This record gives sequence, C-alpha cells and structure tokens, in this order.
Amino acid sequence: MSDPVLVVDDLRVAFPNRDGGWVEVVRGVSFTLGKERLGIVGESGSGKSQTGRAILGLTAPEGRVTAKRLAFNGIDLLNCPPKQRRELRGGRIAMVLQDPKFSLNPVMTIGDQIVEALRAHTKLSKADAKKQALAALDQVQIDNPERVYKLYPHEVSGGMGQRAMIAMMLIANPDLLIADEPTSALDVTVQLQVLAILDALVLQRGMGLIFVSHDLRLVSTFCDRILVMYAGRVVEELSAGGLAHAKHPYTLGLLNCLPQLGANRHPLPTLDRQPEWAL
Ligand SMILES: Nc1ncnc2c1ncn2[C@@H]1O[C@H](COP(=O)(O)OP(=O)(O)OP(=O)(O)O)[C@@H](O)[C@H]1O
Ligand SMILES: [Mg+2]
Repeated sequence: MSDPVLVVDDLRVAFPNRDGGWVEVVRGVSFTLGKERLGIVGESGSGKSQTGRAILGLTAPEGRVTAKRLAFNGIDLLNCPPKQRRELRGGRIAMVLQDPKFSLNPVMTIGDQIVEALRAHTKLSKADAKKQALAALDQVQIDNPERVYKLYPHEVSGGMGQRAMIAMMLIANPDLLIADEPTSALDVTVQLQVLAILDALVLQRGMGLIFVSHDLRLVSTFCDRILVMYAGRVVEELSAGGLAHAKHPYTLGLLNCLPQLGANRHPLPTLDRQPEWAL
C-alpha cells in the first residue's frame, strides 16, 4: 500500500441520551487508507455515515468524537485549528452524500455552485472558474455541460444531480473522497455509470476513496477492500475477492440473503441477529 492518506485508530462517536449519559454509535473503528477504494458496508444504523462525518468534522454539535489517532496526510484532524479543518473539508477531503437534492443548494444554478466551490479553495478568476466548472461537468459525462451549467437542481434528473455533485466535490482535486451511498437513489444502469466515473477518477488522480453502501455485492465488485460494520464496530475486514473467506456470522448472513440465480428460495432467508455480535 502507498503512504496512508488516512489513519483512523479507535474512532468513537457518542451522542447524549435522555438520562444524561452517552450512547456510542461508532465504537472503536480503526483502519488505514492509501490511494485505494475502501468499501464500508453494514445495515442501517451501524455507524457508517457517522464514521464518514467524523472524518470530515461534520458530526452534529452535540456529538462527541474521540480517537487515539485520526490523521489525514499526517495532519492530526482532531487537534488541528478549526480553520485548517474547514479548508481541508471540500478541498482536500470531499464527501458525496446520498441524495443530491438535499446536498445541492436549491436556489443556485448547478454551474454557480461548482464555481463557488472552486473559488472557495482557489484564487481563480470568475471566467477561469467557469471554464473549469464546464470541464468538470464534461468529465462526469454530462453531455451538454453549457446547458446543465444554467439549470437549477430541481430541473435535473437524480443521476445528473448526482454527477453534478461529484463534479463539484472533485473540482478542488481532493486526495480523499468519501462517497456515502452515492448511488442508492439511482436506478441500476445509472448506478453503474456513476460508479464507472468514480472508478476512473480514482485511477487517474490516485485519490483515496471511501465508498459507503448497504450493498455488499456492489461494494465487492468495485472496491479493493471492504469493512463490514455492525452496531458501531468493524466486525470483519475483507479483500474484494475475499467474500468467499468471510467468517463473521453477520457477513455470512448478509451473503446468504443475496438472491441467487436458479436457487429455490422459499421461504426467503432472513438475517438472524445474535445479541453477542453487538458486544
Ligand atoms: N445527532 C444524533 N443524535 C443521536 N443519535 C444520532 C445522531 N446522528 C446519528 N445518530 C445515531 O447514530 C447511529 C448511527 O447512524 P449512522 O447514520 O452512522 O448509520 P448508517 O450506518 O449510516 O445507517 P444508514 O445505512 O441508514 O445510512 C444511529 O443509531 C443514529 O440514530
Ligand atoms: Mg448512512
């Protein structure tokens, strides 16, 4: 592996509960990431998004984030000045969220938003920024960048919005992209297109990618490594080709629930969660 882009050691995220105590929703997650594609899978509520948000510094203000080490290219994220953290976010670390409709600004055109994102992190003139924004839209395979540049988010399809979002995140040339279920709101063909775009960009630019998803099969075809999360912990780490070597009963349960061609699946398998998995 190349020099680590990101080191996460014993990351914990907790929120206050009603009794004045704390509930840990991320409970000691550790991994390192080079210029590679890391998938994080796990069921709803397992702490995937909270892990991504903690890395970006976007945990809700009432939350508490601790770690033995949380470092990006050697920068200690938990102890660096807030200004430096803000500059990193959207600059060298970017995040694509699940639903572009909630992540894009509804009252600004797509083009203006990309230009704004770019000018927040560079000193380009307006004209140069526009040129780069159009190039970025072209790079995510939007056919008519000039036209889409002038559209508002509600005027574009989900897939196009998602690609515009990716263009906006990538324009600052991040070293690390966190994509939180970037394709789950899209139909399968558009999903594959968006994945292919992300894949090409990771290769061309040599950035690190954390790809969060529910979909174990999708993640295993697309990522180099997979972390399986359950109840705030990483219960298993697999290489992409290594699904067959999965050992944790939760991962095995997930695999068993995948549809199989030609198999007689009556009744449909369900996941039998054991209380000890959450310990
Ligand atoms: N501001 C908050 N206050 C209290 N609890 C929170 C807060 N934000 C998130 N949580 C809790 O943290 C846990 C982990 O949430 P997270 O969003 O990381 O799950 P996830 O794995 O991304 O799930 P999904 O697949 O549904 O997106 C959940 O139980 C959630 O209710
Ligand atoms: Mg989530």
